Amino acid sequence: MASSNSIVLAFFLLATLIATSRANFNNDFAITWGDGRAKILNNGDDLTLSLDKSSGSGFQSTNEYLFGKIDMQLKLVPGNSAGTVTAYYLSSMGPTHDEIDFEFLGNVSGQPYTLHTNVFAQGKGNREKQFHLWFDPTKDFHTYSILWNPQRIVFLVDGTPIREHKNMESKGIPFPKNQPMRIYSSLWNAEDWATQGGRVKTDWAQAPFTASYRNFKADACVWASGSSSCGSGSVPKSGSEWLTQELDSASLERMRWAQKNYMVYNYCADLPRFPEGLPAECTATS
Ligand SMILES: *[C@@H]1O[C@H](CO)[C@@H](O)[C@H](O)[C@H]1NC(C)=O
Repeated sequence: MASSNSIVLAFFLLATLIATSRANFNNDFAITWGDGRAKILNNGDDLTLSLDKSSGSGFQSTNEYLFGKIDMQLKLVPGNSAGTVTAYYLSSMGPTHDEIDFEFLGNVSGQPYTLHTNVFAQGKGNREKQFHLWFDPTKDFHTYSILWNPQRIVFLVDGTPIREHKNMESKGIPFPKNQPMRIYSSLWNAEDWATQGGRVKTDWAQAPFTASYRNFKADACVWASGSSSCGSGSVPKSGSEWLTQELDSASLERMRWAQKNYMVYNYCADLPRFPEGLPAECTATS
């Protein structure tokens, strides 16, 4: 028993080390496609993705995570970004995969980006909520965060929660909590649907389009060799309050503010889309 406990402890220490070491795009991510259009710059401090008429580009995390509080700063494609989509998401693999999505849908100059969010559990999504932002996301870097713990998923923008998706497994609703996920991001052309329902196409005269990333931070459980540092309830882990974090009353107030003023689509309010009745999580009280 002592030896298996020390193996658990060794995994725990290793995971903690990995999770708290200073983030660096060279260590934490790999460019996966785009034939030179994705670039890691400044010794790993910065990353840029670009899109032109021939191709977009993308990257993914080296690690897989099972739960985490993950921050990334993004500065989106400026000017006329119509038709472009910058996707930033967590996903597991396979047909019954789990996924937690941010997607930034570009727009013509002066018109607002749409921040699209979705949650997939065991291969099923259809849980879209969309927002406009209270700032111009192309002028400066802003922090987009995902809090993912066994009780809830919270999407945050500059620390303001915009959406909470609770674990309602007790009501028979699947929740992502068994499949480790990687972080993915890509910049690609989606002019068929992205901007104003596909009416506005990409203006290739503006290409290449570029989105920038920096200050990645993961307080997360790193999945390694079939084991995760949060797998064992007997190992106390300091500095991981996020594992049980809930929204306090001030945060709930901020979320109500964001949803009241900036939410432009909510699947839970789209009755015509669900003639058989709204998805169970929309009506269940937790
Ligand atoms: C683009 O701007 C229009 C007009 O303000 C707005 O309705 C739409 O939600 C914006 N976003 C996208 C992705 O079309």
